[in-house]
Amino acid sequence: MLSSPFRLPASSIKHAKLLSSLPQEPMLLRALGAQQKHQSTVDPQDVQKHTDLKSQWWDTTGPMKALHSFNHVRIPFIRDGLVQIPVKERTTTPLCGQSVLDVGCGGGILSEGLAQLGAKVTGIDASKELIELARTHSAGNTKLQENQPTYCCCPIEEHAPAHTGLYDGVVASEIIEHIDNDKKELFVKSCLDTLKPGGRIFLTTPTRSSLSKVTVVYMAEYVLNIVPRGTHDHSKFMTPTELTFLLERNGCHVEMVLGLCYNFVTNRWTFTKNTSLQFALQAVKNA
Ligand SMILES: C[S@@+](CC[C@H](N)C(=O)[O-])C[C@H]1O[C@@H](n2cnc3c(N)ncnc32)[C@H](O)[C@@H]1O
Repeated sequence: MLSSPFRLPASSIKHAKLLSSLPQEPMLLRALGAQQKHQSTVDPQDVQKHTDLKSQWWDTTGPMKALHSFNHVRIPFIRDGLVQIPVKERTTTPLCGQSVLDVGCGGGILSEGLAQLGAKVTGIDASKELIELARTHSAGNTKLQENQPTYCCCPIEEHAPAHTGLYDGVVASEIIEHIDNDKKELFVKSCLDTLKPGGRIFLTTPTRSSLSKVTVVYMAEYVLNIVPRGTHDHSKFMTPTELTFLLERNGCHVEMVLGLCYNFVTNRWTFTKNTSLQFALQAVKNA
């Protein structure tokens, strides 16, 4: 059976039982609270798998090619969610004046695209080597001379406390499926903490479905060898309903969920009504 991110993990149930059976000993309770506070969303093995792809990160024909071509649809999706002015009145840098946090930015593929549209981008990632790569690559990008993203090696739960209510937009593209199910709530809550009231969060992720098990995992990793084997753990994927539920119970309203389809042959992404393979979600933080 697939583990659901919405069922309390066994450790939390044990923790709750332990707490209720304990005498009200303040020091012990404080220690348990502190232990929970120091939970990490980082799965070191997963982050290492991404770090191992460092030398191929910016190769548009390599294992990251789908993330490169994904920019053609995800950047307009994010832009249109953040910019509420008519297309005719927009400049070539419509995100000018908007601060955007790119959570799990890797080598900076999406951060650079958003900065080119004028956004003041902060990219964070748990991999030190990928953050170094992102910094070096952006420094060499002539289109970003006037607007370099800022990069920081740090998981979201460590970034959030010092950056509460700071960003107009938070982007978490192709990362929540790499977060353990019992850490997803901490991940979402930390992302939302950094957002201004009325700010928007954008997430893209593969859907947990039989179709994605066959295509995103089996086809891509074992038949076509587009991405290295073991990149994805299907039991960590979410459905649009689960992600909507998680976001809304943490203080925001889901405005849009769109299905996405990836053509392995043409390396092109398209939006579709069907969310059974992959989806993009936009939500606004309650004021
Ligand atoms: C599939 S890559 C996506 C990169 C980027 N978002 C993009 O779409 O171009 C996932 C990234 O998330 C990072 N990551 C995984 N867990 C993380 C966490 N808890 N905090 C920050 N980064 C994390 C990994 O190191 C990796 O670079």
